[in-house]
Amino acid sequence: MPQSSEKTVIKTKNLSQVIQIHDQKIHVLKEINLEIFAREQVAITGRSGSGKSTLLGLLAALDRPSSGEVYLCDYPIYQMNEEQRAKVRLENIGFVFQSFQLLPHLTALDNVMLPMRLQAQYQYADAKKRATEMLEQVGLSRQMQQTPKVLSGGEQQRVAIARALVTQPKVVFADEPTGNLDGETAKEIEHLLFQMNKELGTTLVLVTHDAKLAAQCQRQIQLVDGNIHERSMGEIKTKTSNPSEFELNQSIQHGAL
Ligand SMILES: Nc1ncnc2c1ncn2[C@@H]1O[C@H](COP(=O)(O)OP(=O)(O)OP(=O)(O)O)[C@@H](O)[C@H]1O
Ligand SMILES: [Mg+2]
Repeated sequence: MPQSSEKTVIKTKNLSQVIQIHDQKIHVLKEINLEIFAREQVAITGRSGSGKSTLLGLLAALDRPSSGEVYLCDYPIYQMNEEQRAKVRLENIGFVFQSFQLLPHLTALDNVMLPMRLQAQYQYADAKKRATEMLEQVGLSRQMQQTPKVLSGGEQQRVAIARALVTQPKVVFADEPTGNLDGETAKEIEHLLFQMNKELGTTLVLVTHDAKLAAQCQRQIQLVDGNIHERSMGEIKTKTSNPSEFELNQSIQHGAL
């Protein structure tokens, strides 16, 4: 596991998820121990059905594990009740979904203001100012008063990213954030996520099928049969100095996705 001088923001302890379908038990995640540090970019990869979304949901306090624990910003989130967990989520994380998940009847501005409206510490005027600035930052100055249905997919995902980042959360989780976008728009959104990770110092944990996107992250965690296999960018680079060989390794590693 890569060592970092940064603070730990996520730590799992024997995290397991077992799903019962009829009389069959499926071990989706098997006692996963994982540590993620502040400011890191981490890609979670694996074949369809390998448990990527399940793992991300558990790390982001959106679900409940069968056993084990997740420490999110030092909070043992699954020892807390739902109300406490919701507070930790609201104050510490942002989540970007493949399907955007904006509220359809709210304008772009109101969607981005929402996480702040749910927290007492933000005054309305302050929330509006921050949301406006965030939408400007993602290139949506013109579209602030529009509702999601008149926005393009790329624009909706920009709103979702603005909403995830507006409170400057410690961790941003993204589950296939470019999965529903065309190639060019996907590149813009990826650029935006990495730019925000660098500029705001947020930790970025993203699930992707895209080998190139995963290779841009400092760490790549692959899920296979409920276990994680990890390689960091540094490790791969030291093993293969030839860039084409590096790319080949990446393709092999992710080729079955
Ligand atoms: N609520 C549920 N009930 C039953 N099975 C589930 C549930 N949630 C997940 N699963 C199963 O757990 C496994 C992992 O699902 P998950 O959605 O985490 O996969 P994934 O790696 O994100 O796949 P994809 O790349 O297709 O999004 C799958 O076999 C899925 O069918
Ligand atoms: Mg998934």
